[in-house]
Amino acid sequence: MGVGALLVAPPMIANVLNANERNIDKYKAKKACRKPFFFIQYSDPQFGFTNGEKYDTKPEEELMEKSVEIINRLSPPFVIGTGDFWHHKRYDPEMLLYKKYMSKIDSKTKIFNVPGNHDFPSLEDEDQNYYHTNFGPSRFSFRHERCAFIGINSQYYWPEREENEYEKEQYEWLIHELESAKKCRFIFVFAHIPFFLEKDDEPEDYFCVKQPLRNKYIETFKHYGVNAIFCGHKHKSFVGKSGNLDMVTCGAIGLPLGGFHGMNLIRVFPDRYDFNYISLDDFPKAIEKNTLKLL
Ligand SMILES: [Fe+2]
Repeated sequence: MGVGALLVAPPMIANVLNANERNIDKYKAKKACRKPFFFIQYSDPQFGFTNGEKYDTKPEEELMEKSVEIINRLSPPFVIGTGDFWHHKRYDPEMLLYKKYMSKIDSKTKIFNVPGNHDFPSLEDEDQNYYHTNFGPSRFSFRHERCAFIGINSQYYWPEREENEYEKEQYEWLIHELESAKKCRFIFVFAHIPFFLEKDDEPEDYFCVKQPLRNKYIETFKHYGVNAIFCGHKHKSFVGKSGNLDMVTCGAIGLPLGGFHGMNLIRVFPDRYDFNYISLDDFPKAIEKNTLKLL
């Protein structure tokens, strides 16, 4: 499949914005002020992983139900899912469960997704088409309150992949998006695979992007003044730093591999931002609109 297939028109889900130009322009044009706001990043609900058996998704359904309740209670302007939405390769019942829970999120909250290694397991046509047919493009870019939000498909450069036509095409797109985000007050990037967990020179393993691509992307992000990268995949929360660049790894809604079930709450103030990985049992009841105080 050629790169052009990335642009296959997706079946629309009511409140899912895809990376087509019309939606992005509409979203960009909305407002350009500096109001404080918050959003939620979640990762790895991974229907079917906890018990490892197809048809056994009860644990994840309960956890996703709880997550959707939190999202609807707090009502952020958007949420961002960083992959591994289902577990078994191209398995409709699990994939459709994720869609079912997305449809339970109130339409006031937009949903942006990038795929994980289970949703987009290879660069074979069958795997790529399955994701694109069901979810549309595997990346996004939008603005909110003069901040840039850019999501990329980390399956193009992970786990052992050399440079390839998809990685090259996406990288060119990324540079274009970062160039046009230069005047934004904050730039946030989202992907499934972390570039590192705590230190940019930590040893390579299954859970992080390997060299030389790790450095290639980190240097690019630093060059363009990216503030933070938000990822998943590890099923455990980590916070790392490379210079001024925050590397934030979100734990899982689904099965934790250390730590607890949770989501990242990110608050953006006029002059700063913060992020907290919070257990699904401990999310605030509400968030005060002007101060972003957790209530
Ligand atoms: Fe995962």
